[in-house]
Amino acid sequence: MSWWNRLRSSPGKSAQPEFNQPGMRLGEYLIADVHSHIIPGVDDGAESLEQSLKLIERLIELGYQRAVLTSHIHSDIYPNSKHTLTAPFLKLREAIVDRWPEFRIHLAAEYFLDGHFEDCVAANELLWFPALDENGRSIRCVLFEFGFHEPPINHQQVLFDLQMAGYTPVLAHAERYPYWHRQFSEFESLHDRGVWITVNGASLAGAYGPETYQVAKKLIEKGMVKMICSDAHAERHIDSLQAIGKSALVQQWLQSDEPMNPRVAMEATNL
Ligand SMILES: [Fe+2]
Repeated sequence: MSWWNRLRSSPGKSAQPEFNQPGMRLGEYLIADVHSHIIPGVDDGAESLEQSLKLIERLIELGYQRAVLTSHIHSDIYPNSKHTLTAPFLKLREAIVDRWPEFRIHLAAEYFLDGHFEDCVAANELLWFPALDENGRSIRCVLFEFGFHEPPINHQQVLFDLQMAGYTPVLAHAERYPYWHRQFSEFESLHDRGVWITVNGASLAGAYGPETYQVAKKLIEKGMVKMICSDAHAERHIDSLQAIGKSALVQQWLQSDEPMNPRVAMEATNL
């Protein structure tokens, strides 16, 4: 019997998150958090250097050694670019080196799948993070998101173009697109095409309601989740990471060979 079937047949199965296990520190298993909004003052994440450092401190307390900082790039709302993000990233890195010299951060982005993103792919001007795939091959990951209210159009072509340009697309918080909650085949299609599926710790903690939790849980149970991410905008998201360390569902996943977070290598900087 596979470990998921054992888990499913265990008495702890539930429609709601359950935090009834002795706590595990996620960072000890995941090493790197790969989705966060910790660069201060550039999107809806951390607003000050002080807040940024607090988020890093909380990640370190959970055992993390690295973080990929993925500020929003959305042409209408957050017109960020490598150009606008580099200076505040470097300032933050300087402050981190002073306090926690062992901790590594890497500049990437969370791209909204809009026309601007297509332009960035065509121009090969992308912020990405380095990782290893299941076969130990070096890959370049690009984190992207869809809109929350309307399903994407033309995404298959854009993602194909991204792959043809040599990148691995990484879908942010797959469970947070309600229009696909009853179209699970959309996730399977992306997964089958080589898109890495990620879910948020806050969703697994129940912060976005039972339906979102159920979708995140199903993605995990089907073995489709490569990464659990903080998507840290504020401390409440780190609180969620701490909470799900007591979830049997998450603990089983952490101890399987499915998490790809530890394969993130920060030595290869793109700055
Ligand atoms: Fe995000």
